[in-house]
Amino acid sequence: MAGLIPDSFIEELLARTDIVEVIERRLSLKRAGNEFHALCPFHNEKSPSFTVSPAKQFYHCFGCGAHGSAIGFLMQYEGLEFRDAVEDLARQAGLEVPAEATGPSARPRTGLLDVMDRAAAWYQQCLKEHPQAIEYLKGRGLSGEVCRDFGVGYAPAGWDGLQKQLGSDPETVALMKRGGLLSQGDHSVYDKFRDRIMFPIHDRRGRVIAFGGRAIGDDGPKYLNSPETELFHKGRELYGLFLARKRSGKLDTLLVVEGYMDVVALAQFGIDNAVATLGTATTPDQASLLLRAADTVVYCFDGDEAGRKAAWKALQATLPRLGGGKQARFLFLPEGEDPDSLVRKQGAEKFRRRLENAQALSDFFFDRMTFDVDMESIDGRARLVQDAMPLLETLPEGVFREMMLERLETLARHRLHGGVGGTPARQATATTASAAGAAPSAQRTPMRLALALLVQNPRLGELAGDLGDLADPPVKGVELLRELVDLCRRRPNLTTAQVLENLRDRDTHAHLVKLALWDLPGEDDQLTQEFHDALAGIRLQQVEADLAVLPRRIIEQDAQQKERFRALQAEKSRLRDSLRGRRK
Ligand code: UTP
Ligand code: MN
Repeated sequence: MAGLIPDSFIEELLARTDIVEVIERRLSLKRAGNEFHALCPFHNEKSPSFTVSPAKQFYHCFGCGAHGSAIGFLMQYEGLEFRDAVEDLARQAGLEVPAEATGPSARPRTGLLDVMDRAAAWYQQCLKEHPQAIEYLKGRGLSGEVCRDFGVGYAPAGWDGLQKQLGSDPETVALMKRGGLLSQGDHSVYDKFRDRIMFPIHDRRGRVIAFGGRAIGDDGPKYLNSPETELFHKGRELYGLFLARKRSGKLDTLLVVEGYMDVVALAQFGIDNAVATLGTATTPDQASLLLRAADTVVYCFDGDEAGRKAAWKALQATLPRLGGGKQARFLFLPEGEDPDSLVRKQGAEKFRRRLENAQALSDFFFDRMTFDVDMESIDGRARLVQDAMPLLETLPEGVFREMMLERLETLARHRLHGGVGGTPARQATATTASAAGAAPSAQRTPMRLALALLVQNPRLGELAGDLGDLADPPVKGVELLRELVDLCRRRPNLTTAQVLENLRDRDTHAHLVKLALWDLPGEDDQLTQEFHDALAGIRLQQVEADLAVLPRRIIEQDAQQKERFRALQAEKSRLRDSLRGRRK
């Protein structure tokens, strides 16, 4: 694609574009010397490591490594293809992108987009003129307003309405064919969509590139979608994404549902951050699109086996894109309901509550992984490791990956009645886990953060509270933490250097020295907050590990264990909520 636009044009475009202006329109930039700083939009952070250099016309994030030109920024931030990003910038700069050179995908698209746009307008017009279509939509509980927002229309019955409207000259017919609006019969072409409610599908810039049509009579399949065309690749688009972003600007959360009707119905109830996968399994392209557009993705599926299978596919597509502040959750709906029916029955508030309680990806992952594994046998646990490792290896390096590996390790090494064994499973994970932790100083796990905060600010020790029943495993480093807390409590006025001197003979000394050099916030209340959060993160690790090894069977049979299970669950959501609330 890139090759089709001459390099000389790209050069001129970048010469006429100011990257600071482009980014300033989307992020709040602060001047710092010759550069500008901002909170990085591509990962979660509290202090700005995203810099824009006007001199270099380049952006770079020291936190996550994202970098590039104005074109790269638009691609990454808006989720645009190269050519679309170039066209956007060209419009701003008052330049015309040269027509593409040769090859089928290089034909100019303006005519084609224009035909799609005119078709959408005509369908909308037809809706007004066909009471039976309006009645259908009313019967489904949709308001005129939400239909207008989504550009919902109606394709009338008959074979050539669209051709009559847009033109039956060979050129227009050719464009309509390219856009997937016509079907080829033995002797003639005819309108593909007939007697259907029409949902236009927009690309990320809001241009109509395809349609979904719902039958209102008994003719043909319930939904008919545009075929793959040069504009429309089903696996790369999400219905409703353009509108969701237009309404809400930067999205915290995106909700992924199956159908057109679900997206529109939810929007009518004020839940306007839903998109649909167009009836297919979630693809890796869609997953990365989703996580570029929002920090959290909630996948919404039927609670039946088919829904769980679909959710598992979505999970696999999502794993390689998690971490760095990006997370996914799963919401399973009651039997026989979809988001459309549920939000109508129960209202938006209840639906939102369901969303808030959606299952964390990590819980869904381990639930499903251990579902039919005999966790009491070595063989079972070895199988768990074998099945889980290839998937966990697709996770990007980082805290999230480490925590998932640690949880797997805990599951695999645990013996039902306590004790830690050197099972084959244990050995299998031990190597991988330590490989994942190969660069220990870089990754800010809650434990490392707690240690760093303490060693740099010994007076925090008095805030540590009771470290209770933390144990290693699953909480790596808890012994060192205890020792450090103990020392800091006894002697809160020690300097960092003195603390380090005190612990010089430990084999963890070098580790502590590294943590003493970490760059941490300077303000008092921020430090206190960070420390509390780190401790909550550590506690969460223990609680999750405890929960993971409580077998279902035992919980059901033993009232005391059931009580413990409930208490752990409650503590877990409390910790999660407090950590999540903080990140906002
Ligand atoms: P559903 O069968 O769950 O339909 O298909 P729905 O979304 O609940 O629609 P209503 O409420 O009956 O109107 C979910 C999605 O699967 C695709 C469509 O994208 C649909 O929205 N689908 C379904 C098709 O592409 N073709 C079909 O024949 C059926
Ligand atoms: Mn439905």
